Amino acid sequence: MKDHEKSIKRVLAIETSCDDTSVALVRDDGWVEKLSSAHQDLVHEPFGGVVPEIASRSHSEALLPLIDLVLTQSHCHWKDVDGIVVTSRPGLVGSLLVGVVTAQTLSFSLDKPLIMVNHLEGHLMAGFLSDSEVTKVPQFDFPYLGLAVSGGHTHLYWVKDFGVYQVLGHTVDDAAGEAFDKFAQMAGLGFPGGVQVDRRSQQGDANRFTFPRAMIRENHYNWSFSGLKTSARQLLSSLSEEERRLNMPSLCASYQEAIVEVLITKLARAVSEFKIPRVLITGGVSANSRLRTKALEWGHEAGVQVVVPPLKYCTDNAAMIGYAGILRLNKGERSLVSESPSSRSLPHDFMGFM
Ligand code: KG4
Ligand code: ZN
Repeated sequence: MKDHEKSIKRVLAIETSCDDTSVALVRDDGWVEKLSSAHQDLVHEPFGGVVPEIASRSHSEALLPLIDLVLTQSHCHWKDVDGIVVTSRPGLVGSLLVGVVTAQTLSFSLDKPLIMVNHLEGHLMAGFLSDSEVTKVPQFDFPYLGLAVSGGHTHLYWVKDFGVYQVLGHTVDDAAGEAFDKFAQMAGLGFPGGVQVDRRSQQGDANRFTFPRAMIRENHYNWSFSGLKTSARQLLSSLSEEERRLNMPSLCASYQEAIVEVLITKLARAVSEFKIPRVLITGGVSANSRLRTKALEWGHEAGVQVVVPPLKYCTDNAAMIGYAGILRLNKGERSLVSESPSSRSLPHDFMGFM
């Protein structure tokens, strides 16, 4: 039997596109046997953002021990692994390179099929993952609308089928996560900022301050968050130190509400225009408690199935990459060991504009 005719049951997946080193063992039914990640927040924190050189060095240090750990803890041997999957785009090239070169070496030396996948396709597969703590989402299937909101992306996709993705819209400037992080930096709340803003918002009044909701009424699916950021900077600089401190929970809640409202408004419009009553929200920002609550409430009222996978599958992780890869391997696709990583998606990854 030729290599591409063999059914792939289990893959080892590697994700190093930004600042999380992640390794997973994933089965062809979406069952995650093991997922382990090493986060780099502490090393980047003093710089207020991800420093590419530090990110790639940290990946090089963390990756091989993580692969060992995943195999050992799941009592799995290389002979039980049918293929190798790695994120090759989009992302920080130096970070991607660590994962890609490692995956190529494993594939070549162990004679296992290799597939390189798009990180965003991975995010879009998060709704199909399950494990001993996470039940498979009932009746979740193609087609659906996928909102991917992270530190680097804010994209709305029409996921027509596996591998058939149309970009309906995206941010024209900052990503939603970036808007959270930049606000947190301006307000002196630390890095990464989204979780800090979310936490402080719990005690705040979301109606206390008015922030702009750019393009909310415009009949397209793009977002813009740069005006929001400017408006926050002006407001913060008009307040005294004491006023800032006293109002911080409400500043956070009002700023957060502006982001959440524009995301949900556009999503709701797309659901009614394309008549697809199934939505996946994924990416690091889907951890936001207000976004989760508002999306689930809206879904309930509008009769839309809203799936927000558990956080470990929404933030950058190798399990989602593994599942996308195993589907591609089982379609007979293979990557060459000579293929390079890319900072951008490739033209055939998505239909529509990027
Ligand atoms: O998907 P992710 O882990 O990494 C990529 O950017 O690809 O997303 C990280 C982003 C950061 O901008 C972070 O501030 C944001 O997700 N984030 C949040 C929350 N938790 C993480 N944003 C808002 N609320 C949160 N609770
Ligand atoms: Zn991501």
